[in-house]
Amino acid sequence: MIDMEISIIGHGYVGLVTACVFADFGNKVHVIGRTPEKISRLKSGDPIIYEPGLEEILDRNLKNGNLEFSTNYDSIKDSEIVFIAVGTPSQADGSADLSQVKVVAKEIALALGERFTVISCKSTVPVGTNKMVEKIVTENAPAQAKFAVASCPEFLREGTGVSDTLSPDRVVIGTESKKAAELLLELHKPIGGQRVVCDLSSAEMIKYASNSMLATKISFANLIAEMSEVAGANAPLVLKAVGLDNRVGAKFLDAGIGYGGACFPKDVKALAFIGKDLGVDSSLLDQVEKINHNARERFAERIVKNAKGKVLAIWGLSFKPNTDDIREAPSIDIMKHLLKNGFSLRVYDPQAMGHIRKIFGDQLNYFDNKDDALAGSDNLVVLTEWNEFAAADLEEIKKTLNSPVVFDGRNIFDPEQMGKMGFEYYSIGRKDVK
Ligand code: UDX
Repeated sequence: MIDMEISIIGHGYVGLVTACVFADFGNKVHVIGRTPEKISRLKSGDPIIYEPGLEEILDRNLKNGNLEFSTNYDSIKDSEIVFIAVGTPSQADGSADLSQVKVVAKEIALALGERFTVISCKSTVPVGTNKMVEKIVTENAPAQAKFAVASCPEFLREGTGVSDTLSPDRVVIGTESKKAAELLLELHKPIGGQRVVCDLSSAEMIKYASNSMLATKISFANLIAEMSEVAGANAPLVLKAVGLDNRVGAKFLDAGIGYGGACFPKDVKALAFIGKDLGVDSSLLDQVEKINHNARERFAERIVKNAKGKVLAIWGLSFKPNTDDIREAPSIDIMKHLLKNGFSLRVYDPQAMGHIRKIFGDQLNYFDNKDDALAGSDNLVVLTEWNEFAAADLEEIKKTLNSPVVFDGRNIFDPEQMGKMGFEYYSIGRKDVK
C-alpha cells in the first residue's frame, strides 16, 4: 500500500536511511542526488555508505518499487513532503556552509506542481535558515504553487541509523503551518518517540543544542580523565558515579581520545559561531572543542614518550565502531603525530581501511586482519573500540608483540588484568600499569 508520496534530496546517512525507513512503511519515496555515478550505484542496491541493516531495506524497497533514485526533480510536483538532507559542512570560521541548501531550495521551487507540498529541512542548519528557504522558494516557485516550510531535524547516529530512525527518543517538527505539522505527524505515525511540535527557530536550535550538549558531556569526561591521571584517581569510576545521578545520566560520559564524526565537531563549531553572531558569549563551546583536541594530542604524546620500539600496530581507524566513517576521526590526528615522530604504523580496521588509504597512501602499512597488523609490531595502540578488539586473546597479543606494551585510547581492557599478565598498559583517566 502506498501511503504518501515524498521526495528526499540527498542520500548521505540522513537522506538514505530516512528514505529507506519511510519506503519500508509503504510510502513512495523518491531520492534525488546530483552525481549520476552514485545514483546508478544506489539503483543497483549499493548503499555507498556502510550502515548495518541498510542494504537489506534498500534492496527490499527497490524490488517492491517503493524507492526510486534520480538526478532530476520531476518527482517534486507529485510530492506531499520534500525533505532537504544535503550537507552543511563547516567553513573556515566555523559557520555552516549553506550553499547546497540554497541551490536545492531553488531547484525544489522551480519543480513544484499544483499539490500542497511541505518543504522540510533535515539538514542541520542555523536559526533563520528555513526562513531563508521560504524566501528562496517564494521567489522562484510558480505563482499557483502551494507550499509550507518546516524543520524536522534528524538525530540518528551512524552505525545504529536504522533503529534510531525507527524508534527515536523524539520527533521534532518545527513549522508555522498547521497543515504542514499535520502532514509530518501523519508521516511519522508508525515511528516511536515523543512529539515536539514547535516554531521553526526552536526546531533549528534543538538540533545544535542536542549535539553540543552531548559533545560537552564527552569533553567534560575527558577533562575529568586528564585531572584523574595527574591526581591518581580512576576517571571511569568517578564518571560512573557522576552518571548514576539521574539528573546527569550515564550516557556519553566515556572518556577517550575525543569525539569525531560528521556532526559533533561541525555542530559545536557552528553553535559557537551562531553565539558570537548573536552577540552571546559562547566560549564554553570553544573550550569543548579545545578539550576534544587536547585529548588526541595528549594520547599521541604519551605514546611518543612511552613506546618501546618504533613499530606500532594500530587497531581501529573509524571515528567510532560499526561505521566506515573517518571524518574528523581521532585516528587521523594521532597517526599524523606518530608518523612525524618517526614511527612505522601497521594498521587494521574492519571497515575504514579504504578511506584511510586515500588520506595516508603508502605512509602506512595496511593489513587485512588484526593479527597480521600485530605480527612484527613492537607495541599495540587501540584507537576504536570495535568488539573484535575487546574480545582479542590477550595471551596471543603478549606473545606476538616484541614488547608487551599497550596504549588503549578507548579503555577496552582491564588495567588489573593487564598488570597481572605482565603488560605495560596506558589507558585514559586511569593509572599507568608498569
Ligand atoms: C551524533 C549524535 O549522537 C546524533 O544524535 C546526531 O544525529 C549525529 O551526531 P554520531 O556522530 O553518529 O551521532 O556518533 P555518536 O555515537 O554520537 O558518537 C560521536 C563521537 O563521540 C564518537 O567519536 C564517539 O567515539 C564519541 N564518544 C561518544 C565518546 O568519546 N564518548 C562517549 O561517551 C560517547
